[in-house]
Amino acid sequence: MADRPRVVRAMPALRRAVRQWRVAGEKVALVPTMGALHAGHIALVRAAQRRAARVIVSIFVNPAQFAPEEDLATYPRTFDSDLATLAALAVDLVWAPSAETMYPAGFATRVVPAGPATAGLEDKFRPHFFAGVATVVAKLLVQCAPDFAMFGEKDYQQLKVVGRMTRDLDLPTRIVAVPTVREKDGLALSSRNAYLSAGERAVAPTLHRVLTDCAARIAGGESFPPVIDEGGRTIEQAGLMLDYFETRHAETLAPIGSVDQGPIRLLVAARLGKTRLIDNVAV
Ligand code: PAJ
Repeated sequence: MADRPRVVRAMPALRRAVRQWRVAGEKVALVPTMGALHAGHIALVRAAQRRAARVIVSIFVNPAQFAPEEDLATYPRTFDSDLATLAALAVDLVWAPSAETMYPAGFATRVVPAGPATAGLEDKFRPHFFAGVATVVAKLLVQCAPDFAMFGEKDYQQLKVVGRMTRDLDLPTRIVAVPTVREKDGLALSSRNAYLSAGERAVAPTLHRVLTDCAARIAGGESFPPVIDEGGRTIEQAGLMLDYFETRHAETLAPIGSVDQGPIRLLVAARLGKTRLIDNVAV
């Protein structure tokens, strides 16, 4: 097992490390996470290592993206095993600021994204969410000044919000999309899957099964309101409570009426017991 990666908790040490790499002409990639690392996060780290000589993984459970009734207090925190995972991957630096370092007393500035952030998907059910994400990601990109930052397609609307925000603010970081890593039965890996009971875990792969089935039927020429309606019913019959199941333009996330207006992305969110699951696929 490799040594524990270097853990940095304060801005001056982070800036010094990044400056040394830059002086040596090394590219830097950032993988932003909230910890509780799984194979999806690991895929992001590997993709980062293919692009850059130096990889920073940030671990910060961002209070600004949780609503008061959400799971901030119970969100899985597994810092020691996360460090062991990152040691085995030979990550160069773990950026793990405290909430006080990220949001010191008097903090008063937020990035409030529109465009893909107001598409009527996650934003409809978590209205606070994307301002929290955009604010912390903008800060992480300024703090770490990476050449590349890796984001999973698993959180597809987040990926589009971050891409738009990075362009709009002229941040000199290239946002790189990494395909969703799944369990063998299709369930997208998520730190929140840890909340599922055994019974719920058996039902959860329905989401991906319905997504891929609907995507194939739409690609095959079937008109999509009926396909989506039928898919939605299958999801609800399996015992999930649907928040949304939508066909959207893959880049703008605007509603889309026919295949020739594409590329199309199918996006779904549903609740299973007290766990909220999201997933998406390309058509
Ligand atoms: P977190 O949920 O920890 O996810 C960190 C990154 O891992 C995100 O880019 C997410 O899309 C990606 N990811 C999660 N599950 C994945 C999977 N199964 N396959 C591929 N990638 C996956 O998303 C966040 O944290 C936060 O909102 C953050 C961006 C860190 C801002 O706080």
